[in-house]
Amino acid sequence: MATARGVACLLVAVICLSCAAAAVARSPVARVHRHLKRLNKPAVKSIESPDGDIIDCVPISHQPAFDHPFLKNHTIQMRPDYHPDGLYDDSKSETTSSTGGERPMVQLWHQGGRCPEGTVPIRRTKRDDLLRASSMRRYGRKRHTVANPMSVDPNLLNEGGHQHAIAYVQGDKYYGAKATINVWTPKIEQPNEFSLSQLWILGGSFGEDLNSIEAGWQVSPDLYGDNNTRLFTYWTSDAYQATGCYNILCAGFVQINSEIAMGASIFPVSGYAGSQYDISIMIWKDPKEGNWWMQFGKDYVLGYWPSFLFSYLADSASMIEWGGEVVNSQLDGVHTSTQMGSGHFPEEGFSKASYFKNIQVVDSTNDLRAPKAVATFTEQPNCYDVQNGNNGDWGTYFYYGGPGRSSNCQ
Ligand SMILES: *[C@@H]1O[C@H](CO)[C@@H](O)[C@H](O)[C@H]1NC(C)=O
Ligand SMILES: *[C@@H]1O[C@H](CO)[C@@H](O)[C@H](O)[C@H]1NC(C)=O
Repeated sequence: MATARGVACLLVAVICLSCAAAAVARSPVARVHRHLKRLNKPAVKSIESPDGDIIDCVPISHQPAFDHPFLKNHTIQMRPDYHPDGLYDDSKSETTSSTGGERPMVQLWHQGGRCPEGTVPIRRTKRDDLLRASSMRRYGRKRHTVANPMSVDPNLLNEGGHQHAIAYVQGDKYYGAKATINVWTPKIEQPNEFSLSQLWILGGSFGEDLNSIEAGWQVSPDLYGDNNTRLFTYWTSDAYQATGCYNILCAGFVQINSEIAMGASIFPVSGYAGSQYDISIMIWKDPKEGNWWMQFGKDYVLGYWPSFLFSYLADSASMIEWGGEVVNSQLDGVHTSTQMGSGHFPEEGFSKASYFKNIQVVDSTNDLRAPKAVATFTEQPNCYDVQNGNNGDWGTYFYYGGPGRSSNCQ
């Protein structure tokens, strides 16, 4: 027969056990574990990349997109209903070296194998990736503003802000954009800074409800734990507040391609006065379903952002930007030496400066065409600059970038 004291002891023990369980569930270790479980879906095969990444081949119907409540009953579209044709011959400029020769590899992890059909390759998020993030909740998200050429406040320039060197068009309805971008590995001074080159598909004004779809290459030690150049995407429907993320670090983008992993390293990259390597990115709106599709290079249709993720972009984009962005954290009150593009100014030209060429927009007839009235913008041309031009081979193009801190950029 249990004594009252015995029962009390037992109760205390039970209570303490549940305390302990609750404490464990709230502990940072358990939170990291839960977060990783949400991000990393069970794989049918895992591939080790020479850069330390692990690429998980996840069954297409188990990818993170389907955690989104609106995608519960979604039928995956395995191909776009519509594909705009470009003005330029893609076979001439897809991840090709200026020296020609054999078709190079496009992502480093391919050295370790390929994903089977019916799966999508997903860069595994590691414990260390989450622990590097200033907040786990914010992992994969940026605190960030898009370059707004219309509202430059010179007083804000030196407050640890983001700096841009871009070309842009606005004032029309846009249904997509395309560009060929050469790929570099800019040096990053501080681990919490980044350097990227991308295109932005923007909807709405620059307010709280800005819609943006972004894709390009980036070097971001905080996000990836190294200085490699990686293919990335971003989306938001509320100016980077509650919605959206890099790559597929949240539910949204539906991937259909088994060969290209978001966030994986691009290989090879261009060398100063050496071989030049470029990538092409096209993003366009499928006029039938309204989804925004992305293509990488000539061969890889990666997948789509469902129309319902967006408000303004559910109709069309109102502005397109192409170019570079860096974080200038302004440590010790001086400008960062983080490089943009190749780290060299546009004047240096081909094989030395970074470029975007054959830039095009998708118009209301769903055709790719040369953009009209391209303008350029940079906060501090002495730090990072942009110079645009036009010719037969390269269509509308620009060189951009720079070294950051110098005697002219403090
Ligand atoms: C999904 O389909 C089920 C069964 O048809 C339905 O009950 C449910 O409401 C649907 N969910 C959504 C989010 O559409
Ligand atoms: C990245 O580059 C910076 C400076 O160029 C260097 O200090 C840092 O150790 C590198 N980080 C990694 C993870 O290799």
